[in-house]
Amino acid sequence: MSTRILQGNPSYLFATTYHLSSVSLISSAMVYPANKHVIKTFKYLVDLLPEGERAKPQVVLLAGEVVGFRNDTDRELVFRQESNFFYLSGCTVPSSYLLTAYQPGTSLSNTPSVELFIPKAELADMMWSVPPPSLTAAKEIHDVTSVAHPAELPGAINTLLKVLPGALFHTLPRNSPLFPTLAPEYTEQVLNPENGDGAVTDLYLLPAIQRARLTKDADELALVKHANEISSRAHEVVMRVLGKAVKNKIEASLGTGVDRPLLPGEWLIEKEAEAEAIFVASCRREGAVHQAYLPIVAASTRASTLHYCCNDREFAWGPVKPHDHHNNNELAHGKSKELNPQVLLIDAGCEWNCYASDITRTMPVGNGGKFTPEARAIYELVLEMQKQSFEIIKAGLHWDAVQLICHRTLVKGFQKLGIFKTPDSSGSGSWNSEEAILASGDSSAFFPHGVGHSLGMDVHDVPSASKPAINSTIGGVALGHESFYTYLRLRLPLEAGMVVTVEPGIYFSPHLLAAIRNSNHINHEVLKKYEPVGGVRIEDVVLITETGYENFTTVRSDVAWVEGVCSGEL
Ligand code: GLY
Ligand code: MN
Ligand code: MN
Repeated sequence: MSTRILQGNPSYLFATTYHLSSVSLISSAMVYPANKHVIKTFKYLVDLLPEGERAKPQVVLLAGEVVGFRNDTDRELVFRQESNFFYLSGCTVPSSYLLTAYQPGTSLSNTPSVELFIPKAELADMMWSVPPPSLTAAKEIHDVTSVAHPAELPGAINTLLKVLPGALFHTLPRNSPLFPTLAPEYTEQVLNPENGDGAVTDLYLLPAIQRARLTKDADELALVKHANEISSRAHEVVMRVLGKAVKNKIEASLGTGVDRPLLPGEWLIEKEAEAEAIFVASCRREGAVHQAYLPIVAASTRASTLHYCCNDREFAWGPVKPHDHHNNNELAHGKSKELNPQVLLIDAGCEWNCYASDITRTMPVGNGGKFTPEARAIYELVLEMQKQSFEIIKAGLHWDAVQLICHRTLVKGFQKLGIFKTPDSSGSGSWNSEEAILASGDSSAFFPHGVGHSLGMDVHDVPSASKPAINSTIGGVALGHESFYTYLRLRLPLEAGMVVTVEPGIYFSPHLLAAIRNSNHINHEVLKKYEPVGGVRIEDVVLITETGYENFTTVRSDVAWVEGVCSGEL
């Protein structure tokens, strides 16, 4: 097997029918290890099958993603390969197919046949776009047995039906909008029951691939790590531009008489959109084609909206009501206005060769690039929630325990700040003990989401495999309140090789606070003082190891560094 890793997302855009392609490698060391993933997936697949089916030849038939078009136009939408197809093929050419065969106890178990089918370059399409690679070029950069054109797929299926009698064909769920469609012109002889040519099922393949994807191999880890390094630098770039402005080192801005357009980094960041533009520019500059998800760039109290993706509002020049959707763009860049002290929460990460990053940093804006005392207290508490999580994370620990420790840390921290009452201060005895407050579920109003999730090809990776219908419970650990787990996307014991985010947060969302406005555990006067902070989240991506974890996120989050950079002092 040749050993080269594909780097720099190959992108293929189709015009009316096809193609723009470019493959860039930053290392001539390795091809994406699709074959290893095929074997890993088949092993899980066979385990999932009923006893009587396991010894049979097993065949997987997959369709890749096709290029979509914007409603009723001929303009291409962004193309991103379907993750499961990429996992088993390493192929980013749109409209491709994969046919792979395996049989336990035969030579096919070590060397499954993996046949890739990529579209033929048509002359008429080249004028609009760039063609897919030739078969010879494609064979060199894919870890597969053979490469042919889709017209040869029916013949290849017929051959397998003959040489592997009794084979069980597996597909992803058919008739589902979640997965690409297997075109009847190529797959009819096995998918049409009237043909009676082979048994086919879509029950086992998806859970098998998802199970395989839950732990990553060294090549995948290198890709996740690279994505995280690029995104870490992009977060730092935003902070540094903010800091330059504090030190008046950004001289040019709208309305100050410059007679040329501003370059990235020259403009003052005074709107969410300006921060997003700098973040994305930094990732693109380093070769990342896609963001792994829509960036969340939320200033002031908008930081309390967990998946805020508008990113089009002014920073706060005066009190901003929670969910204030007025867009006061005319206020930006006016010399006479001072920014209110506020936080800027950026949850953003690029994708590298179909592998994600997912990083949140919350930074001070206004106030000379320093947190207000209230924002700083909340920030430090979120950092403590993350630190306590890191202290217990390792293979074998059930992820629920991390969720619980975050709630426990929040409750203790809020008791210190006086937001939650303590038995002493309230005089109400054990009613306000840490355990009692935990049992009340009130902390969910401030930390409503899960502490993290599996990450890989997708930012929320393999959802069904990581959140089984029946949670495997953790023996002996007090679980706290059921509301802690409503949005927890990972409910498994950790395994070495998993990649997860650790992303505690504290928010003051009026919608969620409504539920605890009458709570006797809370000192509501003290709470009022903290509500203008809006929200703080700190999110890193880590690899789980036998003894602990390795942090792939390189941008720092300690207060001294964040304030130092955002104030222009570092
Ligand atoms: N970026 C979305 C999340 O952190 O889950
Ligand atoms: Mn996340
Ligand atoms: Mn995130």
